[in-house]
Amino acid sequence: MHGKVLLIPGSAEITNQKISMKNITVVGAGTMGNGIAHVFALKGFRVHLIDASEAALEKAMQTIEKNLQRQVSKGIINEVEKQETLQRIFTFFNIAEGVQQADLVIEAATENSEIKKSIFKQLDENAHPDCILATNTSSISITQLANVTNRPNKVIGMHFMNPVPVMKLVEVINGKETSEATTNTIVELTKLLDKIPCVVKDAPGFIANRILMPMINEAIHAFAEGISDAATIDQIMKLGMAHPMGPLQLADYIGLDVCKNILDIMNTGFNNEKYAPCPLLVNMVAQGKLGVKTGEGFYKY
Ligand code: CAA
Repeated sequence: MHGKVLLIPGSAEITNQKISMKNITVVGAGTMGNGIAHVFALKGFRVHLIDASEAALEKAMQTIEKNLQRQVSKGIINEVEKQETLQRIFTFFNIAEGVQQADLVIEAATENSEIKKSIFKQLDENAHPDCILATNTSSISITQLANVTNRPNKVIGMHFMNPVPVMKLVEVINGKETSEATTNTIVELTKLLDKIPCVVKDAPGFIANRILMPMINEAIHAFAEGISDAATIDQIMKLGMAHPMGPLQLADYIGLDVCKNILDIMNTGFNNEKYAPCPLLVNMVAQGKLGVKTGEGFYKY
């Protein structure tokens, strides 16, 4: 895996001397999956994007095109680069076909432990033995996912932030048995995407969500207690702490179901009620008010 400079037809040169990967498979074509496919394809990798739903794959390709177009409009890339990027993305319905030739798989499916374990079993059975299996999970244990495979040393967390084409962070999470070689490869690969890897250990919520979610939860408590309205709470955090979005707007953007799910995982994982989701959050999720994606959360869209 060392020392090669790759040139994929019609692609940018992949110049990091420590990386010789060229084929990336992404499982799950939702917001995170299509963002991950976007950034890898833009950097010259051949990307296989897998989703069981044809509609999800179609929507993902439209979203990638739209987000590439934003980058064209800003002068970050040109029209030719946009077209070449799109041509490097191939869609698949099933894992067995989509992981053929993969040097790295990034799973970005539904945030459900049983679904992810089932996917990891299939990935392990079908991917080349040298292939690294990464997950974009925001809070599920990497070690538990690794344990359903026969290659726990090659399983790692690669947690991208939304919107993937914009956010610089990749939280790299080592499971108990992740090898140093695997971590080093993922760190170098992250740099190649012009992103910044931050390596952490496996613990509920890792670092990003362990700190972000209690802040969001506390903002929801303050809102539920009527201490202030949503816009003012958000304004305080934007103006006072230089956050680009206030916590309630960010919760709507992430998805209230996702926020609740991560808080539940931390509550159970640490056995500590301080992470319990605010009853208002629980109610809003039960009512289907999930934020931007359903048109209503703390704000209307
Ligand atoms: N693809 C490509 N480019 C995009 C984009 C996308 N999906 N979304 C936004 N952009 C670009 C815009 O074109 C714009 O580019 P320029 O700076 O060159 O003009 C830039 O990003 C800013 O976008 P906008 O001008 O549209 O809007 P904005 O200034 O309000 O920024 C934002 C939008 C980047 C989303 C900003 O509000 C922000 O950073 N918000 C916080 C996001 C955040 O915290 N993300 C982490 C969520 S937590 C998570 O993801 C992990 C988890 O596990 C829950």
